[in-house]
Amino acid sequence: MDNRNMRTIGVLTSGGDAPGMNAAIRAVVRTGVYYGIKVCGVQRGYNGLINGEISELRARDVSEILHRGGTMLMTARCLEFKTPEGQQRALHIARVFGLDGLIVIGGDGSFQGARALSNAGLPTVAMPGTIDNDIGCSEYTIGYDTCLNTVKDAIDKIRDTASSHERCSVIEVMGRAAGYIALEAGIACGAEVIVIPEKEFSFDEDVLRVILEAKTRGKKHAIVIVAEGIGGAMEMAKNIEVATGIESRATILGHVQRGGSPTVRDRVIASRMGSKCVELLLEGKSNRVVCMQNGRITDVDINEGLSMKKDIPQDMLDLIGKLSV
Ligand code: ADP
Ligand code: F6P
Repeated sequence: MDNRNMRTIGVLTSGGDAPGMNAAIRAVVRTGVYYGIKVCGVQRGYNGLINGEISELRARDVSEILHRGGTMLMTARCLEFKTPEGQQRALHIARVFGLDGLIVIGGDGSFQGARALSNAGLPTVAMPGTIDNDIGCSEYTIGYDTCLNTVKDAIDKIRDTASSHERCSVIEVMGRAAGYIALEAGIACGAEVIVIPEKEFSFDEDVLRVILEAKTRGKKHAIVIVAEGIGGAMEMAKNIEVATGIESRATILGHVQRGGSPTVRDRVIASRMGSKCVELLLEGKSNRVVCMQNGRITDVDINEGLSMKKDIPQDMLDLIGKLSV
């Protein structure tokens, strides 16, 4: 664990925030302190690297954040950093502040930035922080469990009113191009219909018919969950009402899904991954992504990680149809 070239490391959060990012920052700082190295917080993602918004974080600076959503370092999307000039500026500023290594907490866009810095000579490792759970090389991304629980709470509430009014509720959830949030929240909440980008669907067969059959079987409500990668919840609710005569409402859950105190699962995995990032740098490793595979925290090369595709298990797709009878 003794890499004498690694005396000062930076940590930043990038892309959309996710509950558990603070737990990861805390783990990075405290692990760094444990091994006797200096840790600096970089604010606003790659913007902070370009603009020099970098300052030391000591053990007590990360007190009282473990249980908070969001990220104390703030996050942002930085277009300038996508350009070679922006990356050179970031690299120069990292040198000015004496950073020997960098830890990036974010999604796959942020990983591409981490790869660029590694290739340019700044040892960088990344870990997955996004509610979308859409990172190919990792079974889990920080924030996903908290998000699912938020979505579950919201859908349970919507179900109460949908049942009382015998309505159909169409609920649109986040996930960018991925349907994990929709799928798992849908299974957890007993949705009649789940529409995700990973599975082709026919409005007539997979939505209308399922809703009408459910009504015939005596169901008082219908819950339809639509992933944002499909979108159009408002229009779908209108079309369902016109075609079935069942009063329908649409709810787009939006950014409520990104906030809130992280669950135990998010705090624990964020802590383990954050700590692992520091240890990788101390072992002299670079261009790695910390990830979860077969339930274990491990790491893979960023190029390999970025090229991996994540499939939704067929048995989970089949479950939707089986359980909505
Ligand atoms: P996420 O990390 O959640 O996928 P984004 O895709 O918005 O979020 O990426 C976050 C940031 O990572 C971008 O604003 C940009 O600064 C950086 N980034 C994204 N793609 C690249 C790329 N191809 N090369 C370098 N940096 C990138
Ligand atoms: O990646 C997280 C996420 O919340 C996605 O689910 C969503 O598509 C996107 O970020 C929303 O981004 P913004 O906060 O910039 O609207």
